[in-house]
Amino acid sequence: MIKESDLKVLFNSENIQEEISKLGKHLNEVYGDEELYLICVLKGSVMFMVDLSKHLKMPVKMEFIRLSSYGSAFASSGKVNAVDISLPDLNGKNVLIVEDIIDTGHTAKFLVDFINLNFRAKTLKFCSLLDKKVKREVDIDADYYCFEVDNKFLVGYGLDYDGYYRNIPYIGYVEV
Ligand code: IMP
Ligand code: MG
Repeated sequence: MIKESDLKVLFNSENIQEEISKLGKHLNEVYGDEELYLICVLKGSVMFMVDLSKHLKMPVKMEFIRLSSYGSAFASSGKVNAVDISLPDLNGKNVLIVEDIIDTGHTAKFLVDFINLNFRAKTLKFCSLLDKKVKREVDIDADYYCFEVDNKFLVGYGLDYDGYYRNIPYIGYVEV
């Protein structure tokens, strides 16, 4: 079990909010007053989705889906489990997937393929708070991300270790 006192701070709450605000402003320029569907990938993206959405000025709809991919507490299994992927009709809509982190990329690829297979969205983009590019196993990239990170196991601000620490307001890491 990791203790909170073992965590080293990587991004504090201020760093996080500053980058999210910049991304929000950028998205306002990209979409103008066009309606936008935000797809929050639970559970990890909950904090990011909530904070990002507060900056958005266009008409926004929020959808929540639940995927899981972690085989063990520290390593992505590469197999994506769609726990709940019910979505409304996204044909002709602007769709923005909101993720906490892209690691191997399997989850992102699964979701982009799923939406493309089932709908003809007007636009489909992917935004992630964190991008662990060094761990990528499939060819996929975020259209927008706030921070690139190294191969560290991160917790806090939605990211968990064994279900814990999602509520911590900063992003921290433990050496593995
Ligand atoms: P991927 O399919 O390997 O890209 O993994 C994506 C999912 O794994 C993310 O949405 C996270 O929920 C989880 N994940 C990846 N890296 C970390 C981490 O460092 N800490 C906690 N969760 C992580
Ligand atoms: Mg996630």
